[in-house]
Amino acid sequence: MGHKPVQNGISTCTWRYLGRFVTIGVYAAVALFLWYTLVPTRSKERGAITLKSDSRDSNNDLEVSPAPVHTKNVVIYAATQFFGHPITTERFLATCPDVQNYCRITQDESEFDNSDAVLFHNADYRGTNEKYKKLENQRKPGVPYILWSLESPSNDNFRPESHMINWTMTYRTDADVWAPYGTMVKRKTPIDFDLNALWDSKKKSATWLASNCFTQNRRFDLIKKMIDKGFEIDIWGNCGKQAPQCSGVDNQESPCVLDLIKPYKFYLSIENSNCKDYVTEKFWKALNDRMTIPIVLARKYYKDLGVPDSSYIAIDDFGTFDEFMTHIKKVNSDKATYLSYHEWRKDWKVIIGSGFSGWCTLCNKLQDKEYILKHPKSYKDVAWWHSFEMCNNQIASKYL
Ligand SMILES: *[C@@H]1O[C@H](CO)[C@@H](O)[C@H](O)[C@H]1NC(C)=O
Repeated sequence: MGHKPVQNGISTCTWRYLGRFVTIGVYAAVALFLWYTLVPTRSKERGAITLKSDSRDSNNDLEVSPAPVHTKNVVIYAATQFFGHPITTERFLATCPDVQNYCRITQDESEFDNSDAVLFHNADYRGTNEKYKKLENQRKPGVPYILWSLESPSNDNFRPESHMINWTMTYRTDADVWAPYGTMVKRKTPIDFDLNALWDSKKKSATWLASNCFTQNRRFDLIKKMIDKGFEIDIWGNCGKQAPQCSGVDNQESPCVLDLIKPYKFYLSIENSNCKDYVTEKFWKALNDRMTIPIVLARKYYKDLGVPDSSYIAIDDFGTFDEFMTHIKKVNSDKATYLSYHEWRKDWKVIIGSGFSGWCTLCNKLQDKEYILKHPKSYKDVAWWHSFEMCNNQIASKYL
């Protein structure tokens, strides 16, 4: 048996004591990330940064996407659909056209025998199905079976056989193929940023756009309490009112959503579930083109991803709800304090991923067949790896 991932649960309170190691880990992760980004060729996995940068930002000095020099053609067999929709090369490798020259996705079962990897999207997997039994019995050692998940463990019913899955492809930093919703990188050279203009553009207090109102972590209760204590928050979407200027408010990509949110100073960026490394697009967008200060529930999730401390407000930094309220009211009204949360814009850059950002990386990782064969690994209990054990939905209760 190959290397097995560590299976011990880490309890919430142990995290606190691990803080120091986490900090070191974050630095290491950032260093590794920069190395990955900036060094064109690596011996084992050829480097390609696959996250898409905001195209309106001309400072693209951090993006290097070298295509491997000698590439082998690879085929990924997608054994499931994606939330009931086909998984196609065109859609899933859209952000990396160069990679499409040598990498292809197929859903045709007759190509299974010649595929270089077999991929399952967790939400579409039906373990009892004959087809999956066959895939289990006919596997080849050099062909990794991959679990792909975009969602927090709250939506996961993926229960494959033990050791069926070799690699994971998720937003988690310890996934075999890391596919974050976004990330932040330090700029090589700081840029000028007009903070005064930003302040002048901020006419409104805080906003929240959400469709999932009743979640285990009780984020809505917390937001309602903030409103009760006199902090102005406009709630859009299912949990609030429909935005008059755009009816399709659920579509985050729509330009009207950007116009809707940009005049606000703060964005309530509380995930529907608080789980290890689970930080979705809304947080990254709040920082990036929406130009708000995200208010998050717990600092550690963002610190773990290397996000600079001064770019967001974390509720759990405060001993009591009232202390937190005093602080945000101050940030709301005091220009200098407000702008101190935007200073990072000069030195850092947000790179927006998408749930699909892992595919391009995966194509690269599949290039080195020999390495893959010599370094087998599999998950004894991948369902545990992607389970509620990785979440803490009790954080808000202290403040309610
Ligand atoms: C995948 O897991 C299976 C079962 O544990 C193992 O036999 C195989 O060598 C692994 N393959 C890779 C590429 O890790």
